[in-house]
Amino acid sequence: MANKRQRIGILTAGGDCPGLNAAIRGVGKAAQGFYQMDVIGFRDGFLGLVENRFIELDRSALSGILTLGGTILGTSRDKPHRMVIDGKTKDMTGVVKENIKKLKLDCVVCLGGGGTQKNALRLHQAGINVITLPKTIDNDVAMTDATFGYATALDIATDAIDRLHSTAHSHHRIIVAEIMGHRAGWLTLGAGLAGGADVILIPEIPYDVKKISAAIRQRSKKGSSFSIVAVAEGAKSREDAQLFKIVEKNVKRAESLESTLAAKHELATLEMRHQGNTLRLAHQLEELTRLESRVTILGYVQRGGSPSTEDRILATRLGTACADLIHKRHYGVMVAARADGTEAVPLEKVAGKLKLVPPDHSWVQSARRVGTCLGD
Ligand code: F6P
Repeated sequence: MANKRQRIGILTAGGDCPGLNAAIRGVGKAAQGFYQMDVIGFRDGFLGLVENRFIELDRSALSGILTLGGTILGTSRDKPHRMVIDGKTKDMTGVVKENIKKLKLDCVVCLGGGGTQKNALRLHQAGINVITLPKTIDNDVAMTDATFGYATALDIATDAIDRLHSTAHSHHRIIVAEIMGHRAGWLTLGAGLAGGADVILIPEIPYDVKKISAAIRQRSKKGSSFSIVAVAEGAKSREDAQLFKIVEKNVKRAESLESTLAAKHELATLEMRHQGNTLRLAHQLEELTRLESRVTILGYVQRGGSPSTEDRILATRLGTACADLIHKRHYGVMVAARADGTEAVPLEKVAGKLKLVPPDHSWVQSARRVGTCLGD
């Protein structure tokens, strides 16, 4: 039994990001070439696992993909325990189990962010052998030093801030640049710091628009009649942050189905309204400072293209460490980046947790020291 040739399946779930193919290659080549395992790849995340759609990840499929953006397997945000089939939400965990049995798989490797860690934990609790790798441009997965995708997105967002300086400076404008990151401020903080943004707004530090306009006016007085505001998509004013807090609490506390639905509806309405936050902020700043303001939303550009050197290395070392763990039949863990090495962290310690920017983080302190306004 111990010497049986192992068979594994790989899937990529959640938003695509640079480094996914490098990680597929890292797991696949080490598993296949070094450990003589058979490797397949499921199409479109957990959806492919449920629908039993896969491709053979043989030597030729794994060749030439290290530098490619996106994922050769395709991805989706489907959850096996809450899949919409013919308009109805169904738990497909049983089907996943059957498919794995039919395919004689020893383990499923799930490459993904926070949502994927939660889905993988559910499968693990249902008795399925899983291992995960942490990927996301948001860098918000708990218990790992880093996630692949982040370094590349950081370079792209920093380059964008560099370029936006030209127009801001030449036209004496405020340019508000919206940066991704979901609920975490890592991408905005890092790019803002590296690109020398004058204002950095992150979800972890609710802002006061009057403080921002005062900082911008102060810059004008000192002769800098332009400003770059790097704002995270999840950043909120103090008032909005308070509102979200109350509504999120209501969702958690709701006891009946009716009150749960009402609270969830309220939260969805708030979230919808928040989507226009960056435009509203630019408008408010224009009114308060009398400086022309423009908005640039970086969007999916941040997730596209070839992974940076740092991400290629990270994805490869996490991928190969994953193959080592499969060889040892060590399942139910996420392969975390820890200093120069890796660590197998039990999924229970990762799932459902977010790694947010501590408001006293050294990057925040450095930003303050160089005179950047954090909006508080
Ligand atoms: O998690 C990566 C990310 O790009 C977030 O920064 C962003 O909030 C989200 O995905 C966007 O999701 P979607 O691809 O579903 O629009």
